[in-house]
Amino acid sequence: MVIALDGPAASGKGTLARLISTHYGFAHLDTGTLYRGVAWIVLSENADPAEVKVAADAARNFEIEKLANADIRTKEVGAAASVVAANPEVRAALLDFQRRFAKSPPNNTAGAVLDGRDIGTVVCPDATVKFFVTASPETRAHRRWLELVEGRSELEEAEIYKDLLERDARDAARDDAPMAAAADAELLDTTHLSIDAAFAAARRVIDGIV
Ligand code: C5P
Repeated sequence: MVIALDGPAASGKGTLARLISTHYGFAHLDTGTLYRGVAWIVLSENADPAEVKVAADAARNFEIEKLANADIRTKEVGAAASVVAANPEVRAALLDFQRRFAKSPPNNTAGAVLDGRDIGTVVCPDATVKFFVTASPETRAHRRWLELVEGRSELEEAEIYKDLLERDARDAARDDAPMAAAADAELLDTTHLSIDAAFAAARRVIDGIV
């Protein structure tokens, strides 16, 4: 049983993925972590994320365990992640790990939940249930601002809004595995939904399919 959640930044897909995985007892993989990890390695080598070979090498040598103390949630790492994510060699190097996670989730759980941009379209086209989670850009920027402010960031909401739109445009426009809703994905617009309401809507879909 594989549940795929795709969608733009701060749409709520990560929170939903966590709630779904806990509720059903499935393993969860936040695939953005992989791209952020590769970007973090490239930045920590003082290299340019757009350098194709450097990013590809970082992806091929990537081990998720090495990220234990890395601060991958910053806006710089997010922006660099969407640059390395447009590199087909980076995507190819990370694909196998994601597919293996979906097929044989850790701890022998009965299912896996993966969230990202291309799970329903490329990584797990045969997923049992697919969601494409969206929200208005204003709502997403506000949510991200609240998250960052809690972490004492001094970023302006307008700047976050601009960064989100730039990142989404890059993710949707790239040639290799662009962010897209699979034809058979359930669209879930969380703009006017609380987390509880969005989670309830997702459960109704999952329980109706399985
Ligand atoms: O979801 P998150 O914001 O952590 O993702 C960071 C970046 O990683 C995204 O902007 C996107 O460029 C890339 N990504 C991707 N494919 C995925 C997950 C993330 O290209 N499945």
